[in-house]
Amino acid sequence: MPRTPFLAGNWKMYKTGAEAVSFIEAAKPLLAGITGREAAVAVPFTAIAEAARAASGTGILIGAQNVHWEREGAYTGEISTGMVKAAGASFVILGHSERRQFFGDTDEWVAKKLQAVLEASLVPVVCVGETLAQRESGDTFRILASQLKGSLAGLNAERAAPLVVAYEPVWAIGTGKTATAVQAQEVHAFLRAELATLLGEKTASATRLLYGGSVKPDNVKSLLSEADIDGALVGGAALKPDSFAQIVKFDS
Ligand code: 13P
Repeated sequence: MPRTPFLAGNWKMYKTGAEAVSFIEAAKPLLAGITGREAAVAVPFTAIAEAARAASGTGILIGAQNVHWEREGAYTGEISTGMVKAAGASFVILGHSERRQFFGDTDEWVAKKLQAVLEASLVPVVCVGETLAQRESGDTFRILASQLKGSLAGLNAERAAPLVVAYEPVWAIGTGKTATAVQAQEVHAFLRAELATLLGEKTASATRLLYGGSVKPDNVKSLLSEADIDGALVGGAALKPDSFAQIVKFDS
């Protein structure tokens, strides 16, 4: 089964609900009639409902950037899978390096969130990535193997169908330094082999692996032409409708 390319924006802490609606209104005509891929944006919690209403019927998927693993409870400031789903989200980013770095998300938390996301029938996008220091000390593959294993702990092949994994080298995020297509492919092939060990060949070959880190309209095509790069997770270049649309239309 071929893997459908998944082109996702991650808006991080940008845009109100009204700004999200303007973005979608502007992106709509640019993406009209595009097939053979999924276009998606992970928006701030407060913009999910408005963005999902604006995106209804366009095929653009709306997602969240994080969730808590409990359904509900005394967890001030947290948001559950049921809440984001009711607001219109269909996917959730988990374990983004900014969550790991600034908010204490650990592999163990990501694994718990992953269970909650699957339980709610949402699509999980699990992020892994090494820092510059780890890459320079030759630790890239050891770190990635350990993050992947820890983040997917408790997952079995029967439940893994919706899983999406994003490789986002921390040194490439927001820096303008993209991993070369060859560097990214090398890691993606490694991650797919690790997935085969963890969840079996069938799951590994069906799982979409996204690359993230300074993806732009002018480098997306070469990244996606690599055998194991099935999509992109895009920060800065997904904030403007025209560059987002160019990324979604990477092959045109
Ligand atoms: P940039 O595309 O801005 O480098 O961000 C990448 C990212 O973190 C997407 O999740």
